[in-house]
Amino acid sequence: KKIITIAIDGFSSTGKSTVAKRLAKALGYVYVDTGAMYRAVTFYAMQNDLISDDAFDKEGLIAHLDKVKVNFKFNENLGFAEVYLNGTNVEQEVRNMEVSQFVSQVATVSEVRQRLVKQQQAFGKDKGVVMDGRDIGTVVFPDAELKLFMTASAEKRAQRRYDELLERGDKVSYEAVLENVQSRDLVDSTRKDSPLVKAEDAIRVDNSNMTLDEQFEFILKLSEEKI
Ligand code: C5P
Repeated sequence: KKIITIAIDGFSSTGKSTVAKRLAKALGYVYVDTGAMYRAVTFYAMQNDLISDDAFDKEGLIAHLDKVKVNFKFNENLGFAEVYLNGTNVEQEVRNMEVSQFVSQVATVSEVRQRLVKQQQAFGKDKGVVMDGRDIGTVVFPDAELKLFMTASAEKRAQRRYDELLERGDKVSYEAVLENVQSRDLVDSTRKDSPLVKAEDAIRVDNSNMTLDEQFEFILKLSEEKI
């Protein structure tokens, strides 16, 4: 069997991570959630007063970057790797709405991207990875054997994210979630460095009307064709 690299990119809350995790498990591959890495750096910036509703001290954050260590540790019980910031598990914290509000701004900073991309390339150097993000098929692994580009209507995506946050007990409104999803997509697609675009050779998967099982089966089949 051939060991390959699978890149899954797409808009916010398209369910990339759900399907990527399941696919990685089925193939015995490592799953890497690159969004969690940008989220962890954002959480660091918030904790160190480098970003708030009023200001973003970009130069300050760049000056701090040597002190920001992002890592993953596999959790046997959960069956996937959780994200750590300077040795502390921040898997829960990085999913909250405040982090979601600032993360796309932090992700525009080239110095941040360069570091995280390098780390992502190291994670995937031996292949056998399913990596999800925004620039995996275009920048991180332009030679990935299988590239997927996931889309769904903004309303569907906001509803899914809203349900997820509610389930965790976060108090948010559907409108706020929809607004966040749309503004992140806009910032992510229009930034100068590594904007979110479909790689030419990526397969577009619109999952607006697909169940999780249908998505999984479809993507598993595409993977098996490459292996
Ligand atoms: O995937 P997730 O929604 O958790 O990603 C959060 C944010 O991190 C995205 O909206 C985007 O701004 C940034 N990101 C990125 N490049 C990636 C992954 C995420 O710019 N490869």
